[in-house]
Amino acid sequence: MKFFADTADTDAIRELAATGLLDGVTTNPSLIAKEGKDFIEVTKEICGLTDGPVSAEVVALDHETMMKEAEKLRKIADNVCIKVPLTVDGLKTCKALTDDGTMVNVTLCFSANQALLAAKAGATFVSPFVGRHDDNGSNGMELIRDIRTIYDNYAFETEILVASVRHATHVLESALIGADVMTAPPKVILGLFNHVLTDKGIEGFLKDWKATGQSIL
Ligand code: E4P
Repeated sequence: MKFFADTADTDAIRELAATGLLDGVTTNPSLIAKEGKDFIEVTKEICGLTDGPVSAEVVALDHETMMKEAEKLRKIADNVCIKVPLTVDGLKTCKALTDDGTMVNVTLCFSANQALLAAKAGATFVSPFVGRHDDNGSNGMELIRDIRTIYDNYAFETEILVASVRHATHVLESALIGADVMTAPPKVILGLFNHVLTDKGIEGFLKDWKATGQSIL
């Protein structure tokens, strides 16, 4: 499963890239606003920090303006992936862009039928939001299971990009279901390293090693 960082914080992206775990980045207008930097400039910087896809989202609601925005965004770098909302105009834009060889991430997917539409529109990625589903009292991971079944039934090539990931259990369940990608805030990804028995094990080994009086170097 690929790991994308769900952030526009370039320091955090750099730190994650150094671990070798980073396969791409997703941003959205809220994450861009949080950083307070110019959208085009920060997207260019992020594209230089990873070879993987970097999702940059259009903000227009009509197809014609979405295409104009996408035109500008895709010129930023070869690894820009245009993010469009799961609406009629969003999917029209998705079809036009993917027919033209541009990567597209269809975002704000909340039902398996919506994911079916995104695949039929040729999306590179579909982003079902599991955390927001859970917040709303439904089971976000059930949605991922259903999309996996549908995509496998018809051999759709659209990758399932699990979004709105909030914790380690979302990551684990996504991997068990066979999602292609998950995007999470860097602190969630780095948190996957943590285990109390790893810390305890290191402590014990170091204590015993110290008693030998040896050094490796
Ligand atoms: C996905 O691409 C979105 O940027 C993101 O995962 C939304 O997450 P949130 O529900 O935590 O805002």
